[in-house]
Parts: sequence; structure tokens; C-alpha cells
Amino acid sequence: MTDLFAAIRDTQPPRENLGEGAVLLRDCVGTDEQALLADLRIIVKAAPFRHLVTPGGHTMSVAMTNCGRVGWVSDARGYRYDPVDPDSGKIWPSMPPSLRNLAARAASEGGYTDFAPDACLINRYKPGAKLSLHQDKDELDLGAPIVSVSLGLPATFLFGGLTRNAAQKRYRLTHGDVVVWGGPSRLAYHGVAPLPEGEHPVMGAQRINLTFRKTR
Ligand code: SIN
Ligand code: FE2
Repeated sequence: MTDLFAAIRDTQPPRENLGEGAVLLRDCVGTDEQALLADLRIIVKAAPFRHLVTPGGHTMSVAMTNCGRVGWVSDARGYRYDPVDPDSGKIWPSMPPSLRNLAARAASEGGYTDFAPDACLINRYKPGAKLSLHQDKDELDLGAPIVSVSLGLPATFLFGGLTRNAAQKRYRLTHGDVVVWGGPSRLAYHGVAPLPEGEHPVMGAQRINLTFRKTR
């Protein structure tokens, strides 16, 4: 299985432009992986995954948690960045250097130097989970990019334009891939198609996505 994933990866170009200011970097996690996964386990223990409810009353199929100064939350009142985890009443786990450094390195490879995220949303997709087309627009600082790290099962990432109706392209994201979007693409609509069944050799039957944001 590992060989199959490796063989697929080897046929892909190391970087692909998704649009102006947006790039897909293949296999970008590299040697940081062990530290990253160990730190993720600690974060998830302190702030377990939960299924948030949208302001419209819909329970999301993706389970979420956060680390960093603030975390992204949704409830009947709306979407917001909150320094407190509403489930525990405590502040979110801090963003460890393994995550922060990976985000900064990927941003820099994507053309954005000095990326200093203060929030990392951690998404967990089990087979069938999806994320509808949306814009990341709850951040006050739209000058900084979004850095999105994929781990585990492959997913189809939809990346469109600045309007909901603009055509979307589909990209297969695999373990270790990073997408960076900023500048003219910062408010591009994007989403994730329902995750197919599967078993990843490192992560099991799930996909984990980390999105790093600078919220202010
Ligand atoms: C997101 O849009 O927040 C997550 C995207 C992804 O899971 O690839
Ligand atoms: Fe998003």
C-alpha cells in the first residue's frame, strides 16, 4: 500500500499553480512528520474533535478542533474566532513549533515570506465527510495567505474563483501535500468532495487537514 501511494506521488509534479497566488506543493511535510503527528496527538487529547453546528442548524460532517491563540468555531450565533474552546471553557492548546514552522516554510515556498499564523483549524474527515464550497473570510488580515496541510487518505479538493458560480478545478490531495492560497486568490471558493473509503498506512481510515490562518 505504501508503495502504491509512493508510486502515485512520484508521477506528480512537485508544484502546480491553482491560480494567481495559489499553489499546490506536493509532499511538503518531509522530515517534520513524526514531530507533527506526535504534537497533533497531544492537541487532540486536550481539545478533542467535535462536530460543530452551523448558524443554519446543520451539523457538519467534518469534525474540528483548533490550536493557536484563537480557534475557529461555529454555533447558532454564527462563525467566529474564539480564544476559548467552548467545549472545555479553556484556552485552545498552543501552536507547537512543528506546526508553526511547517506552515511558515510552506508559505515561503508558495511565495509568502514571514507567515505568522495565530490559528490552526484541524479538520478530521472520515469516509463520507465533506466540506461544502466556501470562502475563508472570517480573518481580519486578508493580506496573509491560507496554508492547508493534508494528512492521511487522499481527497478531492475543489478550487474555484471569487464567486460561488465560477468553475472549479479538482485536485487530488494526498498525505503531505500543502496548498497555499493568498493575494488575488485569497478569497477563492474551495471545498472538499465526500471522502472515499480507504485505509492510509500512517493515518488509518481518515483524512486530517490543518489550515493555518492569520486572523488579525
Ligand atoms: C478548509 O477549507 O478549511 C479545509 C480544506 C481541506 O480540508 O482541504
Ligand atoms: Fe476553508
